[in-house]
Amino acid sequence: MCGIVGYIGEEQAAPILLKGLEKLEYRGYDSAGVALYNGGHLQVAKAKGRLKVLSELIEGGQKTPGTLGIGHTRWATHGAPSDINSHPQVSDSGKFAVVHNGIIENYLPLKEHLIRRGVNFVSETDTEVVAQLLEYYYKGDVLDAVIQVLRHVEGSYALGVICQDYPDQLVAVRKDSPLIVGVGSGENYIASDVPAILERTRDIYRLNDQEIAVLCRGSVSFYNMDKEPVQKELCHVDWDVSAAEKGGYEHFMAKEIMEQPKVLRDTISPRLHNGRVVLDSVSLTREDLEKLRSIYIVACGSAYHVGVIAKYVLEKVVRIPVEVDIASEFRYMDPMVDEGTLVLVISQSGETADTLAALREAKRRGARTLSIVNVVGSSIANESDDVLYTWAGPEIAVATTKAYSAQLAVIYLLTIYMGDLLGTVGQEQYAAYVKDLMRLPDLVEEILQHKENVQYLASLFFNVKDVFFIGRNLDYAMSLEGSLKLKEISYIHSDAYAAGELKHGTISLVEDGTLVVALATQKALFEKMMSNVKEVKARGAVVLGLTTEGNKSIEQTADHVMYVPEICDIMLPSLAVVPLQLFAYYVSSMKGCDIDKPRNLAKSVTVE
Ligand code: M6R
Repeated sequence: MCGIVGYIGEEQAAPILLKGLEKLEYRGYDSAGVALYNGGHLQVAKAKGRLKVLSELIEGGQKTPGTLGIGHTRWATHGAPSDINSHPQVSDSGKFAVVHNGIIENYLPLKEHLIRRGVNFVSETDTEVVAQLLEYYYKGDVLDAVIQVLRHVEGSYALGVICQDYPDQLVAVRKDSPLIVGVGSGENYIASDVPAILERTRDIYRLNDQEIAVLCRGSVSFYNMDKEPVQKELCHVDWDVSAAEKGGYEHFMAKEIMEQPKVLRDTISPRLHNGRVVLDSVSLTREDLEKLRSIYIVACGSAYHVGVIAKYVLEKVVRIPVEVDIASEFRYMDPMVDEGTLVLVISQSGETADTLAALREAKRRGARTLSIVNVVGSSIANESDDVLYTWAGPEIAVATTKAYSAQLAVIYLLTIYMGDLLGTVGQEQYAAYVKDLMRLPDLVEEILQHKENVQYLASLFFNVKDVFFIGRNLDYAMSLEGSLKLKEISYIHSDAYAAGELKHGTISLVEDGTLVVALATQKALFEKMMSNVKEVKARGAVVLGLTTEGNKSIEQTADHVMYVPEICDIMLPSLAVVPLQLFAYYVSSMKGCDIDKPRNLAKSVTVE
């Protein structure tokens, strides 16, 4: 989604803004722009396309002097990508410039109202309404005008505002869209995400909904909607700067795939003490668990796929009914959740709009909420009763890999923890699970050491048009992720099916040369899967199997095979996902796709 950066200090702002925006490119965008306070007026430069088009236009910032400015990368929602629709949007007289992430849902009636009063609009965006309203309500105090505007707009927003009359002030506010304030020495920043300002400061404030920040060069103050001062706690970000750099890899995705052994260690080890799973941040007691009638898991995309795995795993081990729902469906489906329900929310960013709304809906209905989140202090983390952080570090590539793996690891930890509390996991089984959890990082490392095998397989198939991923039980859940990974970064059409469902329709699509990726890691279902493989082969499919090292007999049926080491069944997805990630990565690379920033996609989907 869109990216915001703002700067007020003593240095020339434009190069700092461009650099910050570069770090937000991963979020996805189709145009970019900056506005600078420059000698009594606001100077704006905007361009459709990549950031380098804007950078060339303003000669790396040299053509736009000024030490106060705001910058934006836009992912079009209202109005096509174009120079005019890019942000910053300015008010009629040029007094205000605004950058905005989110959607102003009632912009049309507001726009009509302003047009009737003679205001001229130039863009098709919802954001322009904010700039125009600011000027409309402005009586000499920017903060007052911002508060007035917020009283009239509905929807989600992170806003950065500068005003021609205020050379020493940058105002920012958010609601349902992330925004942080960075604090430096004699200079301050706003940004949609930490990487944008990490090279300049590690001290940040996370804005809560409808908290307004007023940034000057030497101070930052916060206010609520009644213009009362708000005290906030400064947070220190301890990410390594290199965590947000490619570190010698061609793509962030490659780096993040290779980081998985470390991420698994970081997520698992601190939660194991003397062979016991310790989840300090989870306040659920045995009595709480005994009262639960059901667990709902809500998430989007890959996080939802983790939820599908979690359903199989939790039901098998903990014996509580689990429903897993896509967050955008859950929020509007009148879900049957109440005090007897635990709602488990999974999100890397912690800011996905639908997931956040689903969490709020669950809380409104009285459910207990537990979130699995990567970004510390994000909205979902803040608003959940309990949080389990994944500690995967910043994930930059749009296609998630290491965060997905860390989420799975947390699911295993939680499952063992709950199974122990409820007595559904005996001590022998408990010890075996813990032992396998500790082996996971090394086993993933072992798979990564043989990545060239997957690269070779990718070279055989990178030109295919359609791919079907099939599996049963946990392998079906894995198929969902394998298929999404491939399609999102290589643009090859692919779909995932429960293998037993093939005969109910899908198999009619299989013809000579169709690639079928058959996942068969689950021992109990191996023979059933081989029957499905034979069925598709009989219709001309080329089959790429994925199984464990003990299942060499698959070679009699499949054309090619990817192997993963043996581990307990419930943890096999953590191993099986790695060759699937590598396959998608290599296919995409061989097709010459923009791996880290696939077309039309955004890293963090902060609009509905
Ligand atoms: O930040 P979240 O985990 O809430 O994001 C959810 C999805 O948007 C995300 O998993 C998406 O599907 C990934 N890009 C897939 O690789």
